Amino acid sequence: MNGKVLVFDSGMGGLTVAREIRAMAPGLSVDYAADSGFFPYGDKSDQALRERLPMIAKRLCEAAKPDVFVIACNTASTLALEEVRSALDIPVVGTVPAIKPAARLTRTGTIGLLATPGTVRRAYTAKLIDDFASQVRVIMHGSVELVRMAELIAAGEAVSLETFRSLQAPLFEAQGGDQIDTVVLACTHFPLVRGELAATVPHPVTFIDSGEAIARQTLHVIEGNAGSAVTESRVWLTSPPEQQTRLVEVSRRFGFHQAVYLKAE
Ligand code: DGL
Repeated sequence: MNGKVLVFDSGMGGLTVAREIRAMAPGLSVDYAADSGFFPYGDKSDQALRERLPMIAKRLCEAAKPDVFVIACNTASTLALEEVRSALDIPVVGTVPAIKPAARLTRTGTIGLLATPGTVRRAYTAKLIDDFASQVRVIMHGSVELVRMAELIAAGEAVSLETFRSLQAPLFEAQGGDQIDTVVLACTHFPLVRGELAATVPHPVTFIDSGEAIARQTLHVIEGNAGSAVTESRVWLTSPPEQQTRLVEVSRRFGFHQAVYLKAE
């Protein structure tokens, strides 16, 4: 399969999605883009993100020239997928929190959803719960701190397990939280710390994320749109790479070797 995909997130989270895409279609050309100049998205206002996302998506696609744009970010996708689609003239694949599979999987009838505060308060998330999980109890918790910790862990820095225990504790301490048996990782950063989260849950749970589903959808879409010649795997940043040494290094480890600065302002 040929063609070129641009995988987009605020920071390192989308690398977990890029990894799934690459595993499924090794021949595909994949570039990565991180809106490092506006990171993190999870605590930004809806208005600020609505202004930012279509603009930055357009600029990135003009520069990277992909055949398909993948928003590998729940916070962005649940808010502005349609706005980004309207701004681009190529197919856009979004990220949907894995609420539907979680609702099918639960045996206790209670699922947890770990995300950013933005994703937790979205009408889009409420509608997903209404449509696919109305028969189960959904307990949500949003944390931008967990996003930051995921970036530190990905960069090989030390973060205590106690930190992960306390950052996810509100999910299990909420009313009915002791019944949670399935946790949706509704932020693409969180698979980076799946091990740390699994090691610090108060009782055993199954963690699920949407990485594989996004990859499958991306391949499905690109089948009909492939065209671009294969180029070197780049990572596009919206702040100077020399100020983003962690992100540049982690991207390199995920196979994105050439950092390019795209000035957004
Ligand atoms: N990775 C993003 C997500 O899936 C959000 C991280 C951020 O807060 O910037 O929601």
